[in-house]
Amino acid sequence: MESTSIVAKGLDDVIVGDTVLSSVNGEKGELIYRGYNIDELADCSFEQVCHLFLYGDFPSGDQERALRERLAARYMIPKEVVDFICFASIIEPPMATLRTAVSMLSCFLKEARLDNEEELRETALQLIAKIGTIAAAIGRVRKGQLPIAPNVSFGYSKNFLYMCNGEVPEDIVTKTMDTSMVLHMDHGFNASTFTARAVTSSLSDMISAVTAAIGSLKGPLHGGANTAVMKMLMEIGGVENIEPWLEKALKEKKKIMGFGHRVYKVLDPRAKHLKRMSKEWGERAHEKKWFQMSEKLEDLMMEKKGINANVDFYSASTYYTMGFEPDMYTPIFAVARMVGWTAHVIEQLKDNRIMRPEANYVGPIGKKL
Ligand code: COA
Repeated sequence: MESTSIVAKGLDDVIVGDTVLSSVNGEKGELIYRGYNIDELADCSFEQVCHLFLYGDFPSGDQERALRERLAARYMIPKEVVDFICFASIIEPPMATLRTAVSMLSCFLKEARLDNEEELRETALQLIAKIGTIAAAIGRVRKGQLPIAPNVSFGYSKNFLYMCNGEVPEDIVTKTMDTSMVLHMDHGFNASTFTARAVTSSLSDMISAVTAAIGSLKGPLHGGANTAVMKMLMEIGGVENIEPWLEKALKEKKKIMGFGHRVYKVLDPRAKHLKRMSKEWGERAHEKKWFQMSEKLEDLMMEKKGINANVDFYSASTYYTMGFEPDMYTPIFAVARMVGWTAHVIEQLKDNRIMRPEANYVGPIGKKL
């Protein structure tokens, strides 16, 4: 049969739409959120950058406080969702429970009309507020602990840490979580964001879009890489094992988790911040081993393959020394990325056309029964 060539396997270099939300410059190693370089925003609070995405501008102090209160008023999750988390968290991986728990929220939230931006933003606020509570509850049940109700007097990152650990975090811990959340909030048309926009393009609803996005983020080639990085470091065991381990892995043509990127040809600008955080947390926790191992692996990957670390590489050792179990790293990524996903759903609806690529059929034709 006549076959047309595939234009772009994996949609490499294909531009499928406009966005004002974020720009990823792979040559310069630059990430921009609505005009602001990520380096400018790295010290901002969750609420400040969330406001930037959802309302289009950087908030004044009053606007930031107002958003903090609006989110806090929506932190609480229904009892039925808590019950589901208690059941599911002990039998399946946390990203699967997170996906289903977020999907369940459609039982309790009014479906936003797609032509009503206020209603869409209300659903976005509900999802952003509640995914933190869901993720924290999953983490606790996995450790055999009871979920902790949110504290509505706390800002987003502080409350998230409080619900995870059951104690009020020190300011330095909240600050680290704020920075990590900001760095993970959005990243152009990555696989999960594209998934959310593709679901939206058929005029489905926001909860369906972000549920599908969580499913996409779960994979180890995307958000699941941060968990895979920590498991890899644990398997390697020590700095002295890195070189032989890497040589064997590369010989076996294995993908090294936390390295490589479709768009960045230079260092991922988020990795620079996370590397600093990983170093600081290693020193703080008197557990420098994971940072030292990471740095050595980074150097060797550059020497042997010329491939840079990505966002997921240093977030692994940072979260580990902060006390999170590896399987929770991807849910934490999802908590931050919910801001980007919901903003993209709203943007997609403003200038929508159904996403419908073509397939190159390579099977037989003319068969008869
Ligand atoms: N380890 C080893 N080699 C890697 C690599 C990695 N992490 N990432 C890319 N490469 C190599 C590939 O083997 C390939 O080499 P080849 O041309 O000799 O076959 C080349 O670099 C291109 O890789 P490819 O998988 O085609 O790039 P992609 O753009 O399709 O994939 C990723 C991008 C991110 C999926 C890929 O780099 C990867 O799997 N990384 C590990 C998972 C990860 O960290 N994901 C999080 C991304 S933020």
